[in-house]
Amino acid sequence: MEVKGAVALVTGGAQGLGLAIARRLAGEGAIVVVADRNEDALANLPPGLERVTMDVTSPEQVQEVVAGIMASHGRVDILVNNAGVIFSEPFVNVMNPAGIMHDYARFRASLAVNLDSVFIVTAAVVEYMVKLRTKGAIVNISSVSACGNEGQTAYSAAKAGVNAMTITWAKELGRWGIRSNAVAPGFIGTDSTRHSLSETVLKHIQGNTPLRRLGQADEVAQAVIALIENDFINGAVLDVNGGLRI
Ligand SMILES: NC(=O)c1ccc[n+]([C@@H]2O[C@H](COP(=O)([O-])OP(=O)(O)OC[C@H]3O[C@@H](n4cnc5c(N)ncnc54)[C@H](O)[C@@H]3O)[C@@H](O)[C@H]2O)c1
Repeated sequence: MEVKGAVALVTGGAQGLGLAIARRLAGEGAIVVVADRNEDALANLPPGLERVTMDVTSPEQVQEVVAGIMASHGRVDILVNNAGVIFSEPFVNVMNPAGIMHDYARFRASLAVNLDSVFIVTAAVVEYMVKLRTKGAIVNISSVSACGNEGQTAYSAAKAGVNAMTITWAKELGRWGIRSNAVAPGFIGTDSTRHSLSETVLKHIQGNTPLRRLGQADEVAQAVIALIENDFINGAVLDVNGGLRI
């Protein structure tokens, strides 16, 4: 699909990887709508990006925002499901006086923001694509953790679910000219990575990464563009992780 002139919706695009993806899409000539729940970050977006407040876990808000984009632009050609929250909690923590097992409410909350959200937003967008017979490219942002990462039961399960939905949709939606792919980043040098992992853990990760460094947000953005532009890639989960295996 040609990015130039396409209408793109990027969730969680107010900062981090989403912002890098939104910038690159806009740089290549797409009309980009950034949807995020962080209003302060939205207010500071660079010019050239449209912005809208939206919580990806709310079906009502998502329906309303997608209807608004349809009203102003008539279609969505590209959907990047990037919004998510990196979450770590061991399944068993014998040092926790409040209870040694992973909290169930936090498990559900992580699934809501990292997995349900991808279902909710994609369903809202694909309904229009199918009814209007417009072709589309969906790119879901997964993670190397989808393989099962120690200390990340909920997040790993959510991202594995994202991969499974990506492949399922590739099979179901291909007949309408809608492609579904994912990018699975390894550890990228974003604020979210630095806040969620200690210096020691980050050093360990870099040591285990064959390229011996963290990735850059723009390297993830580049991979997203490649999946959008190549019209025969469908159902792929593209690793962008410097060769790291977990
Ligand atoms: N940073 C990494 O190393 C890394 C690695 C693998 C995968 N990922 C994935 O990449 C994506 C982006 O991560 P990031 O590191 O840029 O994170 P980030 O925290 O910097 O940015 C995430 C954005 O999503 C938004 N968001 C969160 N919950 C939302 C909600 N309910 N509704 C709307 N917006 C919401 C936040 O406001 C924020 O702007 C996530 O899906 C994450 O799981 C990141």
